Amino acid sequence: MLIDFEKFPKVDMENMNDVHENDIKIINELNDLIENYISNESEELFSKLDEKYEEWLNHTIEHFSGEEKMMIEKKFPPYAVHKQEHDNVLNAMKNVQEDLRKTKSAAGVKNFVQNGLVRWLVNHVQTMDTVTARFLSGKISLAHPIN
Ligand SMILES: [Fe+2]
Ligand SMILES: [Fe+2]
Repeated sequence: MLIDFEKFPKVDMENMNDVHENDIKIINELNDLIENYISNESEELFSKLDEKYEEWLNHTIEHFSGEEKMMIEKKFPPYAVHKQEHDNVLNAMKNVQEDLRKTKSAAGVKNFVQNGLVRWLVNHVQTMDTVTARFLSGKISLAHPIN
């Protein structure tokens, strides 16, 4: 298991924690498939890995757009900053997918998932998602520069 959800940071919105729990489940499954494929490169294992990556990408698109929708509805002032982090990581995920499909090597995806991504995810949830969830749940109010 790459990430233990029990030890993963939680935020003040249960629906966000539920999405994160599912994300971590997919990442752990993806990580197992990466390791399997690296120790036994076969067409069959590549298809499974490719499918899981696609599932993770689609889940992430929904994960991010769900948070963005809530931020827009509640007029979260630093919306653009939070969305920028989402956009950056989504672009990186798409580049890694392209590389995986082109090279059929799991070296890039292994490095991305095990190193950069885990660190990014923990940091993102502890900062952006934590502040966003506090705001959405009414625990803090932030002065809006326009209203
Ligand atoms: Fe999130
Ligand atoms: Fe987020």
